[in-house]
Amino acid sequence: MYPITRGRRLRLNSTLRKMISETVVGINDLVYPLFVIYGKNVKNEIKSMPGCFQESVDEVVKTAKEVYTLGIPAIILFGIPEKKDEMATGAYAQNGIIQRAIKEIKNAVPQLYIITDVCLCEYMSHGHCGIVKGAEVLNDESLELLQKEAISHVEAGADMVAPSDMMDGRVRAIREVLDNEGFSRIPIMSYAAKYASAFYGPFREAAESTPGFGDRKSYQMDPANRREALKEVLMDIQEGADIVMVKPALSYLDIISDVRANVTVPVAAYNVSGEYSMVHAAYKLGWIDYDRIMFEILTSIKRAGADIILTYFAKDAAKLLNTL
Ligand code: PBG
Repeated sequence: MYPITRGRRLRLNSTLRKMISETVVGINDLVYPLFVIYGKNVKNEIKSMPGCFQESVDEVVKTAKEVYTLGIPAIILFGIPEKKDEMATGAYAQNGIIQRAIKEIKNAVPQLYIITDVCLCEYMSHGHCGIVKGAEVLNDESLELLQKEAISHVEAGADMVAPSDMMDGRVRAIREVLDNEGFSRIPIMSYAAKYASAFYGPFREAAESTPGFGDRKSYQMDPANRREALKEVLMDIQEGADIVMVKPALSYLDIISDVRANVTVPVAAYNVSGEYSMVHAAYKLGWIDYDRIMFEILTSIKRAGADIILTYFAKDAAKLLNTL
C-alpha cells in the first residue's frame, strides 16, 4: 500500500521499463498478406489500404524478396483469378494464379514460409465461400472443392494451408486429403473463430470478393457471440487444426484471450483490412501517430494471447523493429 508501494518506481527510466515489459512484439510473430492478380507488371495500389497492392506474379516475387530481407518469416497469399465461375475452378487449377505465385516465390526465395488462404470466394462468380444453390451456400458439397484447392496449393509448394471459408468439417476434410496424398507434414492453420465482420470491407476491394447477393452470416460467426468461439476452436482442433486463428483481432481481443486460456495449440490473430485502413485514414488526417498506434495495436493483440499476427503492418513494423 502507498507510500510503501509506489507503482511509478518501476517506470522511472526506459531501461527498467524494457526489463519488466510483459509483452514483446517480434518480427518472427508476423505474417504479411499478399494479393496476387493475373497479368504482368501489374501493381495496383488498393485505395483503402495504402501501401498494399494487387500484384502480378512477377511483382509479387519482388515483394516477397523484400519481405524476406526485412526478416519477416512468412507470407499468406490471396489470389484474384482472371475468370470466376460457379465452381471456383480457378482455386484449384494446376496453373492457377496462386499455384504459379507459389512456384515463382519458392524459386526466388526458398526460405520464405508460404501460407495459403484456402477459400472459394475469390474464385466464385457470386463471391460466396461455398457452392451456391438458390439462396443457400451448401456445406458438404463445398468441402470437396476446398480439398482440391488445398492439395493443389501444397503440390505447388505451399508450406501451410489456412482454410478461411467457415464451412463445417473443412479442417477434417483437408487433413484427410493431405494425409492421403502424402502431405502429413503440412500443418493446417484454421480460421477457427471467424466473425461476419464489417472490418473486411477493404479486403473485399483488394480481393474482389464481395458477395454478389446476401452476406456471409450463415457461415461466419455472429459478433455478439463469445462462447461459440470456443466451440468452433475446439471443433477445429479435434479435426486436426495445428494452429487456430481468431479474426478480426482488435474488436475481438476477449476472444483471443479466451482461446489462449483454453487451448494448448498456438493461437493466431488476423489484424484485418478495416483495422489497417482506419489507422491510415486517421493518419492521413493528421490525427494520430502512425508508428505508435501500429505498435500499440500489435502489442495489444500479442498481450491478449496471440502467438502469430497476420497483419498488413508487417513491413512497417519490421522496418522499425530492425532499427531498434
Ligand atoms: C476469405 C477471406 C476474407 C478475409 C480473409 N480471407 C474475407 C471475407 O471473409 O469476406 C479478410 C481479410 C481482411 O479483411 O483483411 N474468405
